[in-house]
Amino acid sequence: MNILLTGGAGYIGSHTAVELLKAGYDVIIADDLSNSSEEVISRIEELGGRRVSFYKLDVCCREGMDRLFSEQDIDACIHFAGKKAVGESVAKPLEYYRNNMDATMTLLETMEKHGVNIVVFSSSATVYGIPELVPVDEKATRWCTNPYGWTKYMSEQIMRDACVANNELSCMLLRYFNPIGAHESGRIGEDPRGIPNNLMPYISQVAIGRRERLSVYGNDYNTPDGTGVRDYIHVVDLAKGHVAALRYAETHPGCTAINLGTGKGYSVLDIVHAFEAANGIKIPYVITDRRPGDVETLYADPELAEKLLGWRAEKTIEDMCRDTWNWQRNNPNGYGN
Ligand code: UFG
Repeated sequence: MNILLTGGAGYIGSHTAVELLKAGYDVIIADDLSNSSEEVISRIEELGGRRVSFYKLDVCCREGMDRLFSEQDIDACIHFAGKKAVGESVAKPLEYYRNNMDATMTLLETMEKHGVNIVVFSSSATVYGIPELVPVDEKATRWCTNPYGWTKYMSEQIMRDACVANNELSCMLLRYFNPIGAHESGRIGEDPRGIPNNLMPYISQVAIGRRERLSVYGNDYNTPDGTGVRDYIHVVDLAKGHVAALRYAETHPGCTAINLGTGKGYSVLDIVHAFEAANGIKIPYVITDRRPGDVETLYADPELAEKLLGWRAEKTIEDMCRDTWNWQRNNPNGYGN
């Protein structure tokens, strides 16, 4: 089967490409490289043991997408492409709505034109906003606190409506919690441009000496140590979740939302200490003000994924910390952009 990965050169896309190749799927990647590097393509091939077809292409470009679908016999799509920085989305909402909604619409319209009926969508736990209850299951109220989140929410809604209109269409809405870690080979990993927004890339850049110290955003939350609690999931577990979702989609038309998380919550300081213990490196930090928009505690109820997909996260927080550092120290400047 030929699987198109939009945004497949990015952090989650590249790990998913490797797992798909290992599972016997053929992979086509469309990525405009606006937040990724072409270097990753050869590393995916090296780890997956086979070639991938790469198109340097903005998924919002209708003509380019139409050409791709004409040239390749696509069986299913996994839609990763999109802007993903929460803070930037608050500052540039129109850019986020234009880009992310256009990417989703263009992909769905091109799929419809070419008779492709399976899509796995990269959604986010951000659609739960400030949860009323943790762990959150898929039926929890959805409400977003920033434009990035709303683009995920709206893309989910568009796919839900498209499934009502076309009973052959299958849409899997995968709500990721906090992906961290890297492939255990240290050949692919997360390579943020500029100052990292997220916790783990920031910690690993402190460890390698690119940043002086971590700012811990608030220690006055109602959590065991006062710092924010999240559900961190190893990116390779997450990637395997996509393969499981694709298999499910092949035989289950309709729209299905599924949490991909571990069900366990760790605080910011838990992560700092786990990183220090796993790698024997001290991470200097200071406590600063809360970051606007942050929620106190968010972790998944992961049962539905196990029930429907037969998938559950297997890797530990130690694996996540060790693999992050292995990637960072072998690639101190990421892919070298
Ligand atoms: N944090 C710090 N210092 C930092 C960065 C983060 O203390 O330098 C803290 C945050 O306050 C939070 C925790 O670390 O408590 C995790 O923050 P991240 O930025 O790593 O992740 P978020 O949970 O804020 O956001 C992530 C993704 C979003 C997604 C969301 C879904 O980045 O894309 O999960 O819940 F929408």
